[in-house]
Amino acid sequence: MKVGVFDSGLGGLTIVQAITKSFKGAEIYYIADTLYAPYGEKTKDEILNRSIKITKHLLKNHNIDVLIVACNTATSAAISELREMFSNLIVIGTEPGLKPAILKTQSNNIAVLATPATLRGQKYKQLLSSLSSEHEVNIHEIACAGLVEQIENGNVSHPDTHKMLSSWLIPMKEKEVDTIVLGCTHYPLISDIIKDIMGAKIELIETGQAIARRLDDLCSKKGHIDKSELKIEVFYTGEIKKEMISMILNNWYDSGKIVIKDENE
Ligand code: DGL
Repeated sequence: MKVGVFDSGLGGLTIVQAITKSFKGAEIYYIADTLYAPYGEKTKDEILNRSIKITKHLLKNHNIDVLIVACNTATSAAISELREMFSNLIVIGTEPGLKPAILKTQSNNIAVLATPATLRGQKYKQLLSSLSSEHEVNIHEIACAGLVEQIENGNVSHPDTHKMLSSWLIPMKEKEVDTIVLGCTHYPLISDIIKDIMGAKIELIETGQAIARRLDDLCSKKGHIDKSELKIEVFYTGEIKKEMISMILNNWYDSGKIVIKDENE
C-alpha cells in the first residue's frame, strides 16, 4: 500500500505520528508544501491548485493508492474536487473534531482553534450548522492567524507564541470553555502551551487517531494485510526545520529510518 500525505508544512506529521502507532505494511510519502505555507491565509483557489498539483505529483512519482489530506484547510478547500478528479484513489480528509468535542464537554462551551480559511470555508460552516441544530452548545471560534508560522519557524516554546495563545485563550477561560478543538494539524504541537494557559484538565480534541483508524478500515476493506514495518519519506518544497521533524517523529528520526528530501517541483 502506498500512502501519500500532504500538508502546508509540519502539521500533517502529527497525523503521520498517529498512523505509525497503529498502521503497518505501507510506504508513506509525505509532502510538506512549505514553499506555499501557510495555506490558512490563502484563497480557496490557491489552496485547491496546490492540492491538485501535489496529488498529481504523488501519483506520478510514487504511484499512491491512498491520499491523506493531513490539513483541515486544504480539506475544506479541495476535498470534493480531489475526490471527483481522482476517483480511483482512496481520499481521506481532516476535519475539526466538533462531534467528539460536543460529546466531551461538560460546560457546553467549546472553543475551535483553526486557520482563518478553515473557519471561513463552506465545509466547516455546514458541519457546524448540522451539529448545532442537534445540540445546545456554545461554540467559540478563534482564527489563529500567525500561529502556523510560529510553529513552522520552530518557535514552539518562544514567549511570543505563549503571548499569542494567551490573548486568544484567556477570554475562553472566562467563558468556561472546557474543551478545545484543535482544528489545524499543526496545533497538537503546542498542546503543552494550551494546557499551561487553560489548566491541565482542559480537553484537547485532535484528529490523528481517527484518521489512522479510517486508514486502517479502508485499507483492510481493500485486502491490505501486510504487517511489515512502515517506510516513511518526507519531502519539502521550500524550507523545513529538521529539528521539528525529529521532535514529532523522534523514534523514526533518531534511528535514521526516515528519509528527508528536498522536492523541487
Ligand atoms: N496544518 C494545516 C491545517 O490543518 C494548516 C496550516 C496552514 O495554515 O498552512 O489547517
